[in-house]
Amino acid sequence: MGGGEADGAAALAGVRTQAWICNAWVDARDGQTFATTNPATGETIAEIARCGEAEVDGAVRAAQAAMASPAWRGMDPHARSTRLFRLADLIEQNADELAALETADNGKTWFESRRIDVPSAVATFRYFAGMADKVFGRTIPVSGPWLNYTLREPVGVVGCITPWNFPLNLASWKVAPALACGNAVVLKPAEQTPLTALRLGELAAEAGFPGGAFQVVPGLGPEAGTALVTHPGVDAISFTGSTETGKRIARGASANLTKVSLELGGKSPNIIFADADVKAAIRGATMGIFYGKGEVCAAGSRILVERSIYDDVVAALAERAAGMTPGDPMEKTTRLGAIVSETQLERVLGYIEAGKRDGARLVAGGNRVDRPGNFVEATVFADVTNDMTIAREEIFGPVAAVIPFEDTADAVRIANDTLYGLASGVWTRDIGKAHTVAAALQAGTVWINGYNGYDPGSPFGGYKESGYGRDLGVDATIEKYTQVKSVWVALDG
Ligand code: NAI
Ligand code: MG
Repeated sequence: MGGGEADGAAALAGVRTQAWICNAWVDARDGQTFATTNPATGETIAEIARCGEAEVDGAVRAAQAAMASPAWRGMDPHARSTRLFRLADLIEQNADELAALETADNGKTWFESRRIDVPSAVATFRYFAGMADKVFGRTIPVSGPWLNYTLREPVGVVGCITPWNFPLNLASWKVAPALACGNAVVLKPAEQTPLTALRLGELAAEAGFPGGAFQVVPGLGPEAGTALVTHPGVDAISFTGSTETGKRIARGASANLTKVSLELGGKSPNIIFADADVKAAIRGATMGIFYGKGEVCAAGSRILVERSIYDDVVAALAERAAGMTPGDPMEKTTRLGAIVSETQLERVLGYIEAGKRDGARLVAGGNRVDRPGNFVEATVFADVTNDMTIAREEIFGPVAAVIPFEDTADAVRIANDTLYGLASGVWTRDIGKAHTVAAALQAGTVWINGYNGYDPGSPFGGYKESGYGRDLGVDATIEKYTQVKSVWVALDG
């Protein structure tokens, strides 16, 4: 299992194209499809079932039936745990295939898909497999002759809506804890990248999840997505994606008081102080913005640099960016892949134009690459002020905005001057300053002297318009995927 182009061809030959409902493949009722393309070539990979209201309704009903069935609702937690461990093993055993599907569908490098995304999904399923039999209530001392205890019960049917940037990985962040807590899941993957989610459905059945426990309904946001959000049989929605769509989902879900958790966009500051290990900071800042082509919700897209080291850091960032040539994502040595779609490519190029127009200084990249597919150079703008469009709006592409600052207070002020609050980075050797700034940053994640650290045990999510609710972590996910029941037993009855 070496990986590479040959495996990619094999994986694509067996691509799944139908909806996965109650452990069976089904077409959309009217036979409608949508195309998913390979952004590195522009070619259509496959036509995928375009689910709408009818298919989503079928999936939700299957999930509801599972929640009333001995096979799923009645399954004991150790058995759920065993199945989740088995699913993790199956993802691991099919890692080459899943990575090839992910790279073909999304344009991210084989290196990222195979070394990071798929192993992270495996780790996430293992982590929550271990949690399945450790979800329990309390006994609570109360007044009077009563015994009072709580039960932690599944929420019911959970709708998961995922974006295209980490298709398998973000699905695992939601599906693994939801199943661990005994819910039934309907997953709506992004229309740009449905392939790994469909394969995950099939692997879940192979792992022993009974029909109805896990459905996958590919389709468009305004069709399948809206149908899932507004379906009265859905008890909770777990969403990752843009802030705009998150707001729409919150409004749509409010009609039935469906519980919602939202992991949304970001414009994360990565703050480099003069007393940092500057070399490490430059490496970290480069990876922080260019990893995943910058199509990362936590991307360190605003690089804040203390004035005294500003010119040196700008020069070093420009040099590193210039060395990152975009190329064929299936090549094992490529580190910058293809932008996910033509729409996204146009957005990114539009922001590069906005940066120039607003007077930022382009020091690296700035161009579309002259080859088939959606390739953009790693781009760095210096002398950005925090009121420029490229400092305020989420670009979701390989574009860094470098902003100078004067002192700690100035850095914190600029960092927090944003609608978003997803992630942040701080680079300094001063331990007191590091913790003070970490406390002052309005963000769900702070990385100190590093960037892009993730673990299934550590909660991830946003402050402010980066959303609410958390993925990952024990407490956040148990809270999100269970509801609590208080049981009173009269002792003098
Ligand atoms: P999006 O947020 O619209 O799409 C994410 C998911 O939501 C997809 O599965 C989509 O089908 C679904 N969706 C779309 N409209 C929906 C609706 N009305 N009801 C229910 N589900 C719906 O993001 P999109 O349009 O793909 O990208 C636009 C911009 O959003 C990007 O340029 C980027 O800035 C941002 N984005 C941020 C992400 C993040 O993780 N923070 C992920 C993806 C995009
Ligand atoms: Mg695609």
